[in-house]
Amino acid sequence: MATASKIAAVGVIGAGQMGSGIAQLAAAAGCAVLLLDSDPAALSRAVASISASLRRLVAKGQLSQAACEDSIKRIRCVSRVQELGDVDLVIEAIVEVEDVKKKLFVELDGITKPSAILASNTSSISITRLASATKRPSQVIGMHFFNPPPIMKLIEIIRGADTSEDVFSAVKSFSERIGKTVICSQDYPGFIVNRILMPMINEAFWALYTGVATKEDIDTGMKLGTNHPMGPLQLADFIGLDVCLSVLRVLHNGLGDNKYSPCPLLVQYVDAGRLGKKRGVGVYSYG
Ligand code: CAA
Ligand code: NAD
Repeated sequence: MATASKIAAVGVIGAGQMGSGIAQLAAAAGCAVLLLDSDPAALSRAVASISASLRRLVAKGQLSQAACEDSIKRIRCVSRVQELGDVDLVIEAIVEVEDVKKKLFVELDGITKPSAILASNTSSISITRLASATKRPSQVIGMHFFNPPPIMKLIEIIRGADTSEDVFSAVKSFSERIGKTVICSQDYPGFIVNRILMPMINEAFWALYTGVATKEDIDTGMKLGTNHPMGPLQLADFIGLDVCLSVLRVLHNGLGDNKYSPCPLLVQYVDAGRLGKKRGVGVYSYG
């Protein structure tokens, strides 16, 4: 079984907002990183955003130029899951859809070495159910990063029903090695942070939908009234409205309370492809 110090090679699947930041963190911690995405354009965007993010750290004196270049060199983009056969840890950060993630976990189970740990960055989906798609449920775990991963200090770790203590310890130590503070959640829908955050975001959509106030006043209210760095609608755009909707649906289906039922306005934005900042338009438009 891989221990934290033995995690030398990491596979990151999904090179979107989260996967690119996770790849950056693993590379900066000295790991060889294989970054995989089904969309070649996403890989090109990820390489550009990782370079820009590392250069920001150099400009602030938080990273040397040499360490920046070394980190970039440690990341290799790949296009086939079969290339992840030798990694010690896989961190999955693809679309928040259970069936798609399960299919990937089946594939990973078949091609990664027996000792490899399979982690999911899911925002809400049951780790136990993802683990049950594999023949190694004791080596499957939730490793929930926050956006943007290079800046946010938290990782939420979720044990599935069969996750072993060795795997939990290895992932906890690895999370600390990449500079994060760890909290642990039981495997319940939305875990800790999204269980609390997403109802707030949903309520902000209801406030907008029912005409309580303008989007700007809702966001300014929560920024200046509660000292949040972003208002809830701006944050929803930043996270991705598709991700917010998927999480709310998991909360609604899993906890069965109507208070988690997604606001129709959020559903309509996602139906219209207004997914937030990553698509240039969500609640707000981005130049
Ligand atoms: N890489 C490196 N540095 C970065 C960066 C990146 N990707 N993004 C931002 N930064 C740095 C900037 O260089 C800047 O550094 P200095 O203050 O030292 O100059 C600092 O972070 C602040 O950035 P900006 O000035 O560009 O912008 P900002 O002040 O608006 O901060 C923010 C940006 C850190 C994202 C801040 O707005 C924030 O904290 N927003 C809330 C984020 C949040 O709540 N994330 C969690 C979402 S929920 C989630 O992730 C879970 C889920 O499952 C959905
Ligand atoms: P994103 O849309 O930015 O990126 C997802 C990437 O996965 C895309 O580049 C897509 O091409 C790729 N992809 C989709 N299916 C794939 C497959 N089968 N194989 C390989 N690549 C595939 O999404 P994101 O915001 O980075 O979210 C990714 C995951 O991280 C989701 O599970 C989400 O819930 C979770 N998450 C998101 C945030 C956030 O704030 N956005 C925070 C924490 C966790």
